[in-house]
Amino acid sequence: MSDKKIHIFDTTLRDGEQVPGCKLNASEKIELALALEDLGVDIIEAGFPISSPGDFASVHEISKVIKNASVCGLSRAVEKDIETAAAALKGAVRPRIHTGIGTSDSHIKAKFNATREEILARAIQAVKWAKNFVDDVEFYAEDAGRTDNDYLARVIEAVIKAGATVVNIPDTTGYCLPHQYGEKIAYLVNNVPNIDKAIISCHCHNDLGLATANSISGVLNGARQIECTINGLGERAGNTSLEEVVMILKQHHTLGYYTNIRTQQLNPMSRLVSDTMRMPVQANKAIVGSNAFSHSSGIHQDGFLKDAQTYEIIAPEEVGADGSKIVLTARSGRSALAHRFHKLGHQFTRNDIDVLYAEFLKVADKKKEIDDEDLQVMAKNFETIVVTT
Ligand code: KIV
Ligand code: ZN
Repeated sequence: MSDKKIHIFDTTLRDGEQVPGCKLNASEKIELALALEDLGVDIIEAGFPISSPGDFASVHEISKVIKNASVCGLSRAVEKDIETAAAALKGAVRPRIHTGIGTSDSHIKAKFNATREEILARAIQAVKWAKNFVDDVEFYAEDAGRTDNDYLARVIEAVIKAGATVVNIPDTTGYCLPHQYGEKIAYLVNNVPNIDKAIISCHCHNDLGLATANSISGVLNGARQIECTINGLGERAGNTSLEEVVMILKQHHTLGYYTNIRTQQLNPMSRLVSDTMRMPVQANKAIVGSNAFSHSSGIHQDGFLKDAQTYEIIAPEEVGADGSKIVLTARSGRSALAHRFHKLGHQFTRNDIDVLYAEFLKVADKKKEIDDEDLQVMAKNFETIVVTT
């Protein structure tokens, strides 16, 4: 557990693509897979091959073109699923089969009408089937977030013994609090005797807005893989955002964790996914939202213009964003106004700015945002404004 490299497992093309309206065709999936590889992700979950002939073909084509990342196909703990995933992954340089089953009592009873012992046996069998095709087998204990820790530890020990190389502990319903999810990972680290033979993976959903916090808590307690998606896309409220966990680990580098992600490509990647999946990114989204580097209130703008670090912990170029923006609204101050006039080539004195500021507020109270055109009109009418003030 001494290595602090965090493996980034991207599931934009599988969990992300399950989102209504985000369906991709094969060529779109290949384009995104190549971009994800270029971004530096370690594992690309390319799809769920048994789910449709189209998804099978996509996973197969992606397997042929991806050279550095592992390519992963999802399956249930069903022999036919696993055979189909293996067939789709033929040709991959680093194939991984991701198989698993629900382990919470709710899943065991409601979905499978089974017992804990039967589910344990099916989990072991699934890993053994997958091992007939590939060395790299990841096991997911679906709804692990609500699974009894003692039983979960038994399942995880057994699937590692059967050959699982990665054990995925999904908080499928986004239920856990960060300390609970962290304790679950710590419980496995301390109670599964063969845990050192596998990588623990976090797969957290965002139903309570805690996916990112839970994944980081998992890492702090011993997980070394994070399953995530670009822009946090995924079932219901989504998955952990790739850009968020990567930048948290980078910003807090003193903790010693690191990823292979080329962070300058985060914003271009976010735009590519948003455009291809026809899913807009909310303006206030961390790292990749259009407001992530915008400063609008007077107090913030004044501080930012004196030293960017007063209000920015990340330089926009570090994540490939267009740059910081000073947005002029009725909450903006004189410094921002002077700065924007200066950028437009106008050299106004402090007194001039006082006069213009009063005019600016009148216009800004009527409009959401003042643009360069508004400023040019004010500059042109400056003499008239002075006379009427
Ligand atoms: O959320 C989940 O539990 C999943 C599994 C299939 C890994 O997506
Ligand atoms: Zn999921």
